[in-house]
Amino acid sequence: MSAKVTFSPSGVSIEVKPGTSILSAARKAGVLIQTRCGGNAACFMCKVKIRQDSDLLPIAEEERRKLAGLEEEGYRLACQAKARGQVHVEVPLDPLRAAVQKLLAKQAEENDELW
Ligand code: FES
Repeated sequence: MSAKVTFSPSGVSIEVKPGTSILSAARKAGVLIQTRCGGNAACFMCKVKIRQDSDLLPIAEEERRKLAGLEEEGYRLACQAKARGQVHVEVPLDPLRAAVQKLLAKQAEENDELW
């Protein structure tokens, strides 16, 4: 039996052994999740949003402490959260790309107003 992890917005999916971290699954699937601490639950950069109907192993106390309530909004640390069955992960855009996309959208909106 395997777990299936699907990443959005890319739509990339990968089958992994149950107990595989979301970060490991992302690396195997070629999906970039930002990290700085190498998966030691220290940098908080790998925070992702997990769709509610996802099947993960129970959250560990250390991760719960780090998230300080964000887990109730669906956030998990990709380096700590482990897949058990079907998992849907929303990977945030890296901050620079998000800023560029926001500027481009604003510019397109302004161009539309001119015409
Ligand atoms: S990789 Fe640093 S907290 Fe997950």
